[in-house]
Amino acid sequence: MVEAKLNIDKIRKDFPILNRKVNGRPLVYFDNAATSQTPKQVIDCIVDYYGNYNANIHRGVHSLSQEATDAYEQARLKIKKHFNAQHSHEIIFTSGTTHSINLVANSYGSLLAEGDEVMVSALEHHSNIVPWQMLCERKGLKMKVIPMLENGKLDLHYVHENLTTKTKMVFVNHVSNALGTINPIEEIISAAHKVNAKVLIDGAQAAPHIQADVQALDVDFYTVSAHKICGPTGVGILYGKEELLKQMPPYQGGGEMIAEVSFVKTTYAGLPHKFEAGTPNIAGGIAFGAALDYMHEIGFDAIEAYEQELLEYATQRIKEIEGVIIYGPEPKEKTAVLSFNIEGLHAYDLGTILDQMGIAVRTGHHCAQPIMEYYKIPGTARASFSFYNTKQEIDIFIDALKKAVSMLS
Ligand code: ALA
Repeated sequence: MVEAKLNIDKIRKDFPILNRKVNGRPLVYFDNAATSQTPKQVIDCIVDYYGNYNANIHRGVHSLSQEATDAYEQARLKIKKHFNAQHSHEIIFTSGTTHSINLVANSYGSLLAEGDEVMVSALEHHSNIVPWQMLCERKGLKMKVIPMLENGKLDLHYVHENLTTKTKMVFVNHVSNALGTINPIEEIISAAHKVNAKVLIDGAQAAPHIQADVQALDVDFYTVSAHKICGPTGVGILYGKEELLKQMPPYQGGGEMIAEVSFVKTTYAGLPHKFEAGTPNIAGGIAFGAALDYMHEIGFDAIEAYEQELLEYATQRIKEIEGVIIYGPEPKEKTAVLSFNIEGLHAYDLGTILDQMGIAVRTGHHCAQPIMEYYKIPGTARASFSFYNTKQEIDIFIDALKKAVSMLS
């Protein structure tokens, strides 16, 4: 059985935060879609960097700078291998998915012209909507929206019927943060490529559960945040195909991204440095590599299977509660996200009472207001599970939810 194979007791010991109490109760952390917790291997990696070889990278001949540069570039290599990019210079370090998307919207977006069209899905996080709306306003582009269906999936007929040679880019998340829906990105990418449109996939929510292979997907851009995948906040990556990154102008100017600077003409560095102006989050980048090492040691297939077990168990147990409404598709078509409401109750009140019992869930619109608008609700309560959670914690959550319902009814 996968649960036994994972050795959850041992895994939980890696996460110091799981020992703490919240409001006098042992913490039950079910807000993993917002940010995952950090294992001591990753925390140690950050402490080691600041304690032993803190220095600026790519700049110094001194030993500390060399050590820091080697560790940072080693991390880039780990990320390249993890996502099966062809070249490590196709991995651009950013501050996270939002930064990565803004980079593409501003840089690749500058190559688009008035009258061009872009297509975005209705299931997107605001970070994969707003940068494109801003671009559309600046450049006079038209935005088409792939509608969602009642079951929390995308209407693929719309994609096939509305892609035209005017469509230059398509933006879809691999997994919806609000519902957990796993989108059929292979089909969308291949349909977009038939009309020569480029595709950006927001992989922020998929990364902790699914190991994406960017070459097999043939995706043009893929974005990830380290903090969703056991790494630190403030660091992430943009994967871009070499040929596209080469065509794109720099996004931000500054140190490190130049070849030569003069007041007559400045020339730019090659990839990946062209897109990495300024001193980056060095410790964060190195720790992102350590987080991937940690996840690989456990194994992505085992993680995915175990989280699926947790989701199925939670879905079955929550149905014991009268008036529960679950949003999104069936468990097998989702990552470990349970987005729900209880008839007559406000998600915010549920979240507040659960917190008093030591249970962390997210409530609200989850930065995905168009989804809430579709269901005509202000928000949902969202429990999102990770491989260090247990069925016992789900039992505690369900008992607490039952108490919250009786208090609020
Ligand atoms: N995007 C994160 C979430 O879904 C913050 O909670």
